[in-house]
Amino acid sequence: MMMITGILLGCLAAVTAAPNQFGEKFQFNVTDIAWPSDEIKTQVFDKNEYIPVNNAIAGIKVWKGMMYLTVPRWKPGVPVTLGFIPAELIMRDIPPKLHAYPNWDMQTVGDCRAFQFVQSMEIDPKGRMWVLDTGRTETMTTEPKARCNPRLVILDLENNGAVLRSIPFPESVTPHNESYLNDIVLDSTDGGFAYISDTNDRDPGIIVFSLEKNRSWKVRHDSMKKQKEAEDFFIGEQRVIKGIPIDGIALSQLDANERFLYYCPLSSYHLYSVSTAGLKDEDISNIDPYIRDVGRKSSQTDGMIMSANGTLYFGLLADDAVALWDSQRDLSFTTGQRIIARDHVRMQWPDSFAIDDKGYLWCTTNALHNFMHNKIDPRQVNYRIVRAYIENLSYQYHENGTTPELPIIIAGAGDRLPMAIGTFIFFILAIALQ
Ligand SMILES: *[C@@H]1O[C@H](CO)[C@@H](O)[C@H](O)[C@H]1NC(C)=O
Ligand SMILES: *[C@@H]1O[C@H](CO)[C@@H](O)[C@H](O)[C@H]1NC(C)=O
Ligand SMILES: *[C@@H]1O[C@H](CO)[C@@H](O)[C@H](O)[C@H]1NC(C)=O
Ligand SMILES: *[C@@H]1O[C@H](CO)[C@@H](O)[C@H](O)[C@H]1NC(C)=O
Ligand SMILES: *[C@@H]1O[C@H](CO)[C@@H](O)[C@H](O)[C@H]1NC(C)=O
Ligand SMILES: *[C@@H]1O[C@H](CO)[C@@H](O)[C@H](O)[C@H]1NC(C)=O
Repeated sequence: MMMITGILLGCLAAVTAAPNQFGEKFQFNVTDIAWPSDEIKTQVFDKNEYIPVNNAIAGIKVWKGMMYLTVPRWKPGVPVTLGFIPAELIMRDIPPKLHAYPNWDMQTVGDCRAFQFVQSMEIDPKGRMWVLDTGRTETMTTEPKARCNPRLVILDLENNGAVLRSIPFPESVTPHNESYLNDIVLDSTDGGFAYISDTNDRDPGIIVFSLEKNRSWKVRHDSMKKQKEAEDFFIGEQRVIKGIPIDGIALSQLDANERFLYYCPLSSYHLYSVSTAGLKDEDISNIDPYIRDVGRKSSQTDGMIMSANGTLYFGLLADDAVALWDSQRDLSFTTGQRIIARDHVRMQWPDSFAIDDKGYLWCTTNALHNFMHNKIDPRQVNYRIVRAYIENLSYQYHENGTTPELPIIIAGAGDRLPMAIGTFIFFILAIALQ
């Protein structure tokens, strides 16, 4: 039955041509590091702290000509977990090296002021990068190490990546020894919210953070758990047997009366949505009425993203494909979705998406099934960054391209500044805003 549905969906999802055509912008055999100095390079090599095949590119976001990438510390030997490269290719055939962001010290394993494990981040239209740090390393090995508190860190890209906030999550939201902060989207309404998928195996859910309240909580539901029917699949010849709960998330367009967070467990054939009205209410007793099963897909999905005009882009892992669904025009997800790119070489495991300020959709494809099974061959291309012109901005902007009003985030307020200074700055700002 499942297979028949899969085939049917495959037929419905006929491949369409331009304008959503993907071109390959970057390809990497391994992730090369831009070492800040020869001393540091020697030190890292002496301690065997750089194992090239263990550095898989996952997260991607673009801001003002810079491409920010993440290399989650799934395995040992990852010196840079958050970095950047220029978003334009300088020389063909020479993949750019990954520079540490905001600096080298912020990558130190075991230093809880630095990043331990970054998989995803989001950049708001004011240039503030909201970075997820799970705090654990070597999560894909039999001995994961719980090193630091899981937290959300806000960096100011317009000020050399200065730390604006560091927000630790309480144990009751996501315990430090089981947390897995996977993906993040931002909602600028009602004082500012972040929604985060916690791919925690035992207690999966959506973490909600209210910037205004400076509080976080977790929303749990059966639809966020891994589903048996989807735990076993093939990518080419490679079998993937893995139960993974809620993973990719996408927030619906800004210009609508009601907003929805779309999500799917990686081990699932379903797309779900939850109304943000339900997420924003910390005291809600029953989330069920806010949740909807949007429909079935032909395959498992990792990352997703929504554009300003309401088009959802998502990967289909077993098909080496990226699909879209126009949520404004095609009311049925099941019949409306269509594949816009399929390539059994270049599109293996579409992991993460970004939409830049010029109307391009970017995607990292990293053949994670090979990485999981220790089958990375440095003599081959393993990671790619592809892009397509979609003539639209991200879900964080109005459909007409203008920027909504965004919450103000004062550097270090409450965290480091003495109260009197904090109050003083607030006072000045209050006057400035009059
Ligand atoms: C995490 O800690 C809790 C409480 O100490 C414990 O019950 C649980 O088994 C731990 N989980 C793992 C994966 O070690
Ligand atoms: C990287 O992969 C390409 C394509 O397979 C190959 O031609 C090239 O030799 C590889 N580079 C290295 C340094 O192994
Ligand atoms: C949104 O933009 C996409 C890509 O350009 C296009 O295919 C789609 O029709 C647009 N949808 C609406 C509702 O305008
Ligand atoms: C763009 O759209 C937003 C939301 O509908 C509206 O508030 C704003 O005035 C529009 N701006 C322009 C320049 O059309
Ligand atoms: C996004 O798409 C909509 C509808 O397709 C279009 O009206 C709008 O101008 C686009 N926005 C940008 C910034 O290109
Ligand atoms: C936010 O709450 C955290 C504790 O969860 C605290 O450490 C921090 O100082 C608070 N930040 C602000 C700006 O109030």
